[in-house]
Amino acid sequence: MDLRVEGLSHRYGDTVVLDDVTLDIPAGRIVCIVGPSGCGKSTLLRLIGGLERPEAGAVHQIGAPRATSLNPLTFVFQDFALLPWRSAAGNVSLVLEDHGGIDRDGIVADVLERTRLSEFRDALPRQLSGGMKQRVAIARALAVSPEVMLMDEPLSALDAQTRELLMDDLIDLWHRERFTAVYVTHNLAEAVRLGHRVVVLSRRPGRIREVVEIDTPLAERGAMEDVQRHLWDLMRDEARAADAELIDA
Ligand SMILES: Nc1ncnc2c1ncn2[C@@H]1O[C@H](COP(=O)(O)OP(=O)(O)OP(=O)(O)O)[C@@H](O)[C@H]1O
Ligand SMILES: [Mg+2]
Repeated sequence: MDLRVEGLSHRYGDTVVLDDVTLDIPAGRIVCIVGPSGCGKSTLLRLIGGLERPEAGAVHQIGAPRATSLNPLTFVFQDFALLPWRSAAGNVSLVLEDHGGIDRDGIVADVLERTRLSEFRDALPRQLSGGMKQRVAIARALAVSPEVMLMDEPLSALDAQTRELLMDDLIDLWHRERFTAVYVTHNLAEAVRLGHRVVVLSRRPGRIREVVEIDTPLAERGAMEDVQRHLWDLMRDEARAADAELIDA
Protein backbone atom coordinates (compact mmCIF):
# COMPACT_ATOMS: atom_id res chain seq x y z
CA MET A 1 0.00 0.00 0.00
CA ASP A 2 1.28 3.43 -0.96
CA LEU A 3 0.28 6.64 0.75
CA ARG A 4 -0.30 9.93 -0.95
CA VAL A 5 -0.44 13.05 1.17
CA GLU A 6 -2.25 15.70 -0.80
CA GLY A 7 -2.43 19.40 -0.04
CA LEU A 8 -2.34 18.92 3.71
CA SER A 9 -2.76 22.10 5.76
CA HIS A 10 -3.33 22.41 9.46
CA ARG A 11 -3.52 25.03 12.17
CA TYR A 12 -3.87 25.18 15.92
CA GLY A 13 -5.88 28.28 16.79
CA ASP A 14 -4.27 31.10 14.86
CA THR A 15 -1.01 29.24 14.31
CA VAL A 16 -0.67 27.76 10.85
CA VAL A 17 1.47 24.68 11.35
CA LEU A 18 1.43 22.99 7.94
CA ASP A 19 0.76 24.61 4.60
CA ASP A 20 -0.14 22.62 1.52
CA VAL A 21 2.09 19.60 2.02
CA THR A 22 1.99 17.06 -0.79
CA LEU A 23 4.18 13.98 -0.79
CA ASP A 24 4.19 10.33 -1.76
CA ILE A 25 5.16 7.45 0.47
CA PRO A 26 5.78 4.48 -1.82
CA ALA A 27 5.50 0.97 -0.42
CA GLY A 28 8.81 -0.52 0.63
CA ARG A 29 10.57 2.82 1.11
CA ILE A 30 11.71 4.81 4.11
CA VAL A 31 10.68 8.45 3.73
CA CYS A 32 12.42 10.72 6.22
CA ILE A 33 10.96 14.05 7.28
CA VAL A 34 13.40 16.67 8.53
CA GLY A 35 12.95 20.33 9.35
CA PRO A 36 13.56 22.91 12.04
CA SER A 37 12.22 22.47 15.53
CA GLY A 38 8.49 23.17 15.74
CA CYS A 39 7.93 23.16 11.97
CA GLY A 40 5.15 20.59 12.17
CA LYS A 41 6.88 17.22 11.68
CA SER A 42 5.01 15.45 14.47
CA THR A 43 1.78 17.11 13.40
CA LEU A 44 2.30 15.81 9.88
CA LEU A 45 2.85 12.30 11.22
CA ARG A 46 -0.27 12.48 13.39
CA LEU A 47 -2.32 13.65 10.40
CA ILE A 48 -0.94 10.82 8.27
CA GLY A 49 -1.79 8.34 11.02
CA GLY A 50 -5.31 9.69 11.44
CA LEU A 51 -4.82 10.81 15.05
CA GLU A 52 -5.98 14.25 13.97
CA ARG A 53 -8.04 15.48 11.05
CA PRO A 54 -6.39 17.97 8.73
CA GLU A 55 -7.96 21.35 8.21
CA ALA A 56 -7.48 20.90 4.47
CA GLY A 57 -6.18 18.19 2.21
CA ALA A 58 -6.21 14.45 2.63
CA VAL A 59 -4.14 11.32 3.08
CA HIS A 60 -4.99 8.71 0.47
CA GLN A 61 -4.27 5.02 0.78
CA ILE A 62 -3.43 3.65 -2.63
CA GLY A 63 -4.14 -0.06 -2.78
CA ALA A 64 -6.06 -1.56 0.11
CA PRO A 65 -4.15 -2.77 3.16
CA ARG A 66 -3.57 -6.50 3.29
CA ALA A 67 -6.34 -8.38 5.10
CA THR A 68 -3.72 -9.64 7.55
CA SER A 69 -2.73 -6.13 8.61
CA LEU A 70 -4.26 -5.56 12.05
CA ASN A 71 -3.30 -1.88 12.11
CA PRO A 72 -2.17 -0.47 8.76
CA LEU A 73 -0.72 2.76 10.17
CA THR A 74 1.29 2.06 13.31
CA PHE A 75 3.27 4.54 15.39
CA VAL A 76 6.69 4.18 16.99
CA PHE A 77 7.48 6.95 19.47
CA GLN A 78 10.63 8.41 20.94
CA ASP A 79 9.76 7.43 24.53
CA PHE A 80 9.15 3.70 23.81
CA ALA A 81 5.85 3.75 25.77
CA LEU A 82 6.30 0.30 27.32
CA LEU A 83 4.27 -0.86 30.30
CA PRO A 84 6.83 -1.28 33.11
CA TRP A 85 5.12 -4.27 34.71
CA ARG A 86 4.95 -6.29 31.51
CA SER A 87 7.77 -8.33 30.02
CA ALA A 88 9.05 -7.71 26.50
CA ALA A 89 6.71 -10.44 25.22
CA GLY A 90 3.87 -9.03 27.35
CA ASN A 91 4.33 -5.57 25.91
CA VAL A 92 4.25 -6.96 22.39
CA SER A 93 1.18 -9.11 23.00
CA LEU A 94 -0.69 -6.13 24.46
CA VAL A 95 -1.41 -4.73 21.00
CA LEU A 96 -2.87 -8.07 19.93
CA GLU A 97 -5.34 -8.38 22.80
CA ASP A 98 -8.20 -6.67 20.99
CA HIS A 99 -7.95 -9.02 18.05
CA GLY A 100 -9.69 -12.37 17.92
CA GLY A 101 -8.95 -15.33 15.72
CA ILE A 102 -5.20 -14.86 15.69
CA ASP A 103 -2.36 -16.95 17.07
CA ARG A 104 -1.16 -14.38 19.60
CA ASP A 105 1.69 -16.42 21.03
CA GLY A 106 2.82 -17.35 17.54
CA ILE A 107 2.87 -13.73 16.40
CA VAL A 108 4.77 -12.60 19.51
CA ALA A 109 7.38 -15.33 19.06
CA ASP A 110 7.69 -14.46 15.38
CA VAL A 111 8.27 -10.71 15.82
CA LEU A 112 10.69 -11.25 18.71
CA GLU A 113 12.62 -13.60 16.46
CA ARG A 114 12.60 -11.12 13.56
CA THR A 115 13.91 -8.36 15.83
CA ARG A 116 16.50 -10.69 17.44
CA LEU A 117 14.84 -10.38 20.85
CA SER A 118 13.79 -13.96 21.51
CA GLU A 119 16.16 -14.43 24.43
CA PHE A 120 14.82 -11.27 26.08
CA ARG A 121 11.18 -12.27 25.93
CA ASP A 122 10.78 -12.42 29.72
CA ALA A 123 12.81 -9.30 30.56
CA LEU A 124 11.05 -6.34 32.14
CA PRO A 125 11.59 -2.85 30.69
CA ARG A 126 13.62 -1.78 33.73
CA GLN A 127 16.07 -4.59 33.00
CA LEU A 128 16.57 -3.35 29.46
CA SER A 129 18.78 -0.58 28.08
CA GLY A 130 17.19 2.25 26.12
CA GLY A 131 18.22 0.61 22.88
CA MET A 132 16.63 -2.69 23.88
CA LYS A 133 13.46 -0.92 24.96
CA GLN A 134 13.16 0.71 21.55
CA ARG A 135 13.77 -2.67 19.88
CA VAL A 136 10.82 -4.03 21.88
CA ALA A 137 8.73 -1.06 20.77
CA ILE A 138 9.64 -1.79 17.15
CA ALA A 139 8.76 -5.47 17.65
CA ARG A 140 5.42 -4.36 19.08
CA ALA A 141 4.80 -2.19 16.01
CA LEU A 142 5.62 -5.11 13.69
CA ALA A 143 3.24 -7.41 15.60
CA VAL A 144 0.22 -5.77 14.00
CA SER A 145 1.64 -6.21 10.48
CA PRO A 146 1.56 -2.52 9.63
CA GLU A 147 1.51 -1.32 6.06
CA VAL A 148 3.37 1.82 7.10
CA MET A 149 5.29 2.53 10.29
CA LEU A 150 5.06 6.13 11.46
CA MET A 151 8.22 6.76 13.43
CA ASP A 152 8.55 10.01 15.40
CA GLU A 153 12.19 10.53 16.35
CA PRO A 154 12.50 6.90 17.41
CA LEU A 155 16.18 7.16 18.25
CA SER A 156 16.27 10.61 19.81
CA ALA A 157 16.19 9.37 23.40
CA LEU A 158 19.26 7.20 22.81
CA ASP A 159 22.95 8.02 23.08
CA ALA A 160 25.00 8.30 19.91
CA GLN A 161 26.44 4.79 20.00
CA THR A 162 23.11 3.14 20.68
CA ARG A 163 21.63 5.16 17.83
CA GLU A 164 24.27 3.70 15.53
CA LEU A 165 23.36 0.19 16.67
CA LEU A 166 19.66 0.76 16.15
CA MET A 167 20.27 2.24 12.70
CA ASP A 168 22.15 -0.94 11.79
CA ASP A 169 19.22 -2.98 13.12
CA LEU A 170 16.72 -0.99 11.09
CA ILE A 171 18.79 -1.31 7.92
CA ASP A 172 19.12 -5.03 8.53
CA LEU A 173 15.38 -5.32 9.12
CA TRP A 174 14.63 -3.31 6.00
CA HIS A 175 16.78 -5.63 3.92
CA ARG A 176 14.90 -8.62 5.25
CA GLU A 177 11.39 -7.18 5.17
CA ARG A 178 11.29 -4.05 2.97
CA PHE A 179 9.00 -2.31 5.42
CA THR A 180 7.51 1.10 4.63
CA ALA A 181 8.13 3.97 7.02
CA VAL A 182 7.65 7.67 7.46
CA TYR A 183 10.56 8.53 9.70
CA VAL A 184 10.67 11.91 11.43
CA THR A 185 14.03 13.00 12.72
CA HIS A 186 15.96 16.18 13.40
CA ASN A 187 19.16 14.20 12.97
CA LEU A 188 20.43 14.56 9.41
CA ALA A 189 22.90 11.70 9.80
CA GLU A 190 19.94 9.44 10.51
CA ALA A 191 17.99 10.73 7.50
CA VAL A 192 20.98 10.18 5.25
CA ARG A 193 21.60 6.67 6.59
CA LEU A 194 18.00 5.46 6.50
CA GLY A 195 16.04 7.51 4.00
CA HIS A 196 15.35 6.53 0.42
CA ARG A 197 13.80 9.95 0.23
CA VAL A 198 14.32 12.91 2.55
CA VAL A 199 11.60 15.55 2.74
CA VAL A 200 12.89 18.90 4.00
CA LEU A 201 10.22 21.06 5.60
CA SER A 202 10.57 24.81 6.04
CA ARG A 203 10.23 26.60 9.30
CA ARG A 204 6.65 26.87 10.57
CA PRO A 205 4.32 26.87 8.77
CA GLY A 206 5.87 23.71 7.43
CA ARG A 207 6.00 23.67 3.66
CA ILE A 208 8.03 21.34 1.50
CA ARG A 209 11.33 22.98 0.66
CA GLU A 210 12.82 20.09 -1.20
CA VAL A 211 12.51 16.36 -1.59
CA VAL A 212 15.94 14.78 -1.83
CA GLU A 213 16.12 11.31 -3.34
CA ILE A 214 19.04 9.19 -2.17
CA ASP A 215 19.73 6.43 -4.64
CA THR A 216 22.71 4.90 -2.87
CA PRO A 217 21.60 1.52 -1.45
CA LEU A 218 21.22 1.54 2.34
CA ALA A 219 24.02 -0.98 2.68
CA GLU A 220 26.46 1.38 0.94
CA ARG A 221 25.74 4.55 2.86
CA GLY A 222 29.21 5.16 4.22
CA ALA A 223 30.51 8.57 3.24
CA MET A 224 27.41 10.59 2.53
CA GLU A 225 28.77 13.89 3.74
CA ASP A 226 27.77 15.68 0.54
CA VAL A 227 24.10 14.85 0.87
CA GLN A 228 24.18 15.65 4.57
CA ARG A 229 25.80 19.01 3.87
CA HIS A 230 23.19 19.80 1.23
CA LEU A 231 20.38 19.00 3.67
CA TRP A 232 21.99 21.15 6.33
CA ASP A 233 22.44 24.02 3.85
CA LEU A 234 18.70 23.87 3.23
CA MET A 235 17.94 24.03 6.94
CA ARG A 236 20.66 26.00 8.68
CA ASP A 237 19.26 29.55 8.61
CA GLU A 238 15.77 28.48 9.52
CA ALA A 239 17.00 26.23 12.29
CA ARG A 240 18.85 29.21 13.74
CA ALA A 241 15.79 31.42 13.47
CA ALA A 242 13.57 28.79 15.09
CA ASP A 243 16.11 28.35 17.86
CA ALA A 244 16.14 32.08 18.59
CA GLU A 245 12.35 32.34 18.65
CA LEU A 246 10.84 33.38 21.97
CA ILE A 247 8.52 30.87 23.54
CA ASP A 248 4.95 32.18 23.90
CA ALA A 249 4.36 32.30 27.61
N1 LIG B 1 -2.12 20.07 20.15
C1 LIG B 1 -1.56 21.25 19.88
N2 LIG B 1 -2.19 22.40 20.21
C2 LIG B 1 -1.64 23.60 19.92
N3 LIG B 1 -0.45 23.76 19.31
C3 LIG B 1 0.22 22.65 18.97
C4 LIG B 1 -0.29 21.35 19.23
N4 LIG B 1 0.62 20.44 18.78
C5 LIG B 1 1.63 21.15 18.26
N5 LIG B 1 1.40 22.47 18.37
C6 LIG B 1 2.27 23.54 17.85
O1 LIG B 1 2.40 23.32 16.47
C7 LIG B 1 3.72 23.56 16.03
C8 LIG B 1 4.29 22.31 15.37
O2 LIG B 1 4.43 21.30 16.35
P1 LIG B 1 5.05 19.88 16.03
O3 LIG B 1 5.13 19.16 17.31
O4 LIG B 1 4.30 19.25 14.92
O5 LIG B 1 6.49 20.29 15.49
P2 LIG B 1 7.80 19.39 15.30
O6 LIG B 1 8.37 19.75 13.99
O7 LIG B 1 7.45 17.96 15.54
O8 LIG B 1 8.72 19.94 16.46
P3 LIG B 1 9.96 19.22 17.21
O9 LIG B 1 11.12 19.32 16.26
O10 LIG B 1 10.15 20.06 18.41
O11 LIG B 1 9.55 17.82 17.51
C9 LIG B 1 4.49 24.02 17.25
O12 LIG B 1 4.49 25.42 17.28
C10 LIG B 1 3.67 23.47 18.41
O13 LIG B 1 3.82 24.29 19.53
MG1 LIG C 1 8.10 16.56 16.94
